[in-house]
Amino acid sequence: MHQEIITRFNSLKEKQLSIDITRGKPDKDQLDLSNDLIDISIPTSSEDGIDLRNYGEPFGILEARRMGSELLHAPIDNILAGEQSSLLLTYQTVLSNFLFAEPTPWKDLKNPKFICPVPGFDRHFMMLEDFGIEAVPIPLKEDGIDLNAFEEVLKEEENLVGILCVPKHSNPSGEIYSDDNLQKMFEIGSNYSDKFLFLFDHAYLIHDFLPTPEQKPIWQIVSESDVEDQTVITTSFSKVTFGGGGISFMATSGHSLDLIKKVRTTMIICPDKLNQKRHVEFFKDVETVKSHMLKHAELVRPKFELAYSYLEKLPDECGTFSRPTGGYFITYSTSKPVASKVVELCKEMGVLITPAGSTFPKNYDPKDSVIRLAPTYVTKEELMDAMDVFTTSVEIAHFKVEV
Ligand SMILES: Cc1ncc(COP(=O)(O)O)c(C=O)c1O
Repeated sequence: MHQEIITRFNSLKEKQLSIDITRGKPDKDQLDLSNDLIDISIPTSSEDGIDLRNYGEPFGILEARRMGSELLHAPIDNILAGEQSSLLLTYQTVLSNFLFAEPTPWKDLKNPKFICPVPGFDRHFMMLEDFGIEAVPIPLKEDGIDLNAFEEVLKEEENLVGILCVPKHSNPSGEIYSDDNLQKMFEIGSNYSDKFLFLFDHAYLIHDFLPTPEQKPIWQIVSESDVEDQTVITTSFSKVTFGGGGISFMATSGHSLDLIKKVRTTMIICPDKLNQKRHVEFFKDVETVKSHMLKHAELVRPKFELAYSYLEKLPDECGTFSRPTGGYFITYSTSKPVASKVVELCKEMGVLITPAGSTFPKNYDPKDSVIRLAPTYVTKEELMDAMDVFTTSVEIAHFKVEV
């Protein structure tokens, strides 16, 4: 058996591949779905007569905010329609609390900490590191965060200022938080402190490619739990229309809304209102956005299925893999602590994979097990080669094959 793996390794190496499956990006055919957006003709005024070409409307134009309100199921007064990046809104939220949170800005706390379900999104950890905020990992379960671990951490640690979650199609492992899990998170977190921030990066809100368990709109559970002022939800059209060319949205309330207003007033006079208008004209309403997402699903799903067809051939003893119903990632968990070795072997055969450990704070995966695969931003032929390389690497590392 080992000889067969060695032969495979050598022939893959000879192919001199150069394939990058590190990032979850839409492929060209997905971007083409929104081409009409590029030269769509738009009026120069918003619905309520604001000149779109000039400064003004720091919270976005009315019609874009209405779209955000329908997407996030929050009242329009609680919605900000921003620039193209939801990550920027998330960053600005942390920044605003860091500088101006009341009664104590986070910068004045001794060792402020944020709870981060793991595995998670590397940029979230990088962001917290920028502020010197410690990311305290808690495990994710199938239906959301491990509530017992959440409670334990809150009991044991001081100066916990919030939790940062991707509540649907979690990046990278694809979990969908149940309504019950969310409701209990709000109960436990708000009992700890009425300033504890529930920060939701809803990047994959409408990115299903298979039937997906229903999740109540988060803002509804937020309202029922009376935690509007300590919740911020962000999302964007980065994987709906164009990466870096969409609109971002935020839902929040009370002091959290005041804080984001304060910090944004200094740094940006207004978002790109013309692009907001272009998007509203292109889609008209949220129903059309959702049918547009079905077209993405048709292009994305076959790539996941293709990746599974390779992963299924791996012996069960090597590890397990996620089968998300949406989002952009598959997580492979090796049963032995060999994730770093697998990623290294892939690189040797010309396939770049997100570095092992990067789905954990400080790049430290205690089990050296979790590997994030992003199957979308490659052709089918490249994906087949990449998966061949990946599965071969898993076998080499698991069975300690000398190559
Ligand atoms: C969880 C998560 N949040 C945010 C982003 C980036 O979103 P945006 O382009 O809106 O900043 C990504 C993109 O990969 C993501 O996976």
